[in-house]
Amino acid sequence: MDAFVVRSLDEIRFWSRIMKEHSLFLGLGFRAEDTRLKSEADRFYKIFEDIERRAHEFQADADPRIIKNFNTEVGVAAANIWAFKRMVLGLILQCKLPGQTNFPLLVDHVSREANYFRNRLEELNTGRLEPLPDAIIDENVFFLKIMADHAKFIGHLLDPSERKLVEQAREFSNDFDMLLFQAQDLSSMRPQSQTVPLLSQFVDENRVSVKELRDFKKTARDLIDACRIKSIIHPLLADHVFREAERFLFILDMFEQSLSGVKVNRRDILSS
Ligand SMILES: [Fe+2]
Ligand SMILES: [Fe+2]
Repeated sequence: MDAFVVRSLDEIRFWSRIMKEHSLFLGLGFRAEDTRLKSEADRFYKIFEDIERRAHEFQADADPRIIKNFNTEVGVAAANIWAFKRMVLGLILQCKLPGQTNFPLLVDHVSREANYFRNRLEELNTGRLEPLPDAIIDENVFFLKIMADHAKFIGHLLDPSERKLVEQAREFSNDFDMLLFQAQDLSSMRPQSQTVPLLSQFVDENRVSVKELRDFKKTARDLIDACRIKSIIHPLLADHVFREAERFLFILDMFEQSLSGVKVNRRDILSS
């Protein structure tokens, strides 16, 4: 079993579904008259739906050369959807789509996720994976901001009459903003901050908060599915942000294992 193949397929299976769903959300937020933007979003939906299907058809014993080409192809699709999202963000910020309902921060957010996906594929294909101490800081800076954004989206898409849930979402938003600042402080103190005790504490502390947020998202998702709360949150968006929190937890668990074990670089931890 080739670790490169396993890692590549895992990234593509997770993120192609995410990209597919972003296309759906963006399309739903455009106005009825924005037919070209809607059809462009539909086109990306089909592209990532096809990529997701093919990623599931490959087996772990697939030829690494074929997977390398697949990664390149998917990387191009990720770069293209990134460009589309940034173009849409530009139109929104210039007030050229008045009345559309995608928050600018959401459009920026989904473009950051596309960029992350593209970078991961490039790292895999070039074999240039960051050393573990850098990966720990960079992944946390990326995902803490993602989690902080999610809390803000949830807070703003719940009905204002859901006062207690809105307040909880605000608390998560503040908590993750603070964790993000801490992560940026640790990043600024590199490389001196990259000691095993400091990185372990950093991972542990973040994991406690991510677990709480993950549970909150799960509850919100279940309440939305059962039609027990008032909101304009698409049920699939509730599940989408829950899955992204699970992804972050999975990465934090790998970091924790690596810090407590003997494995020294990211290639090792990601292939274990
Ligand atoms: Fe997403
Ligand atoms: Fe997200």
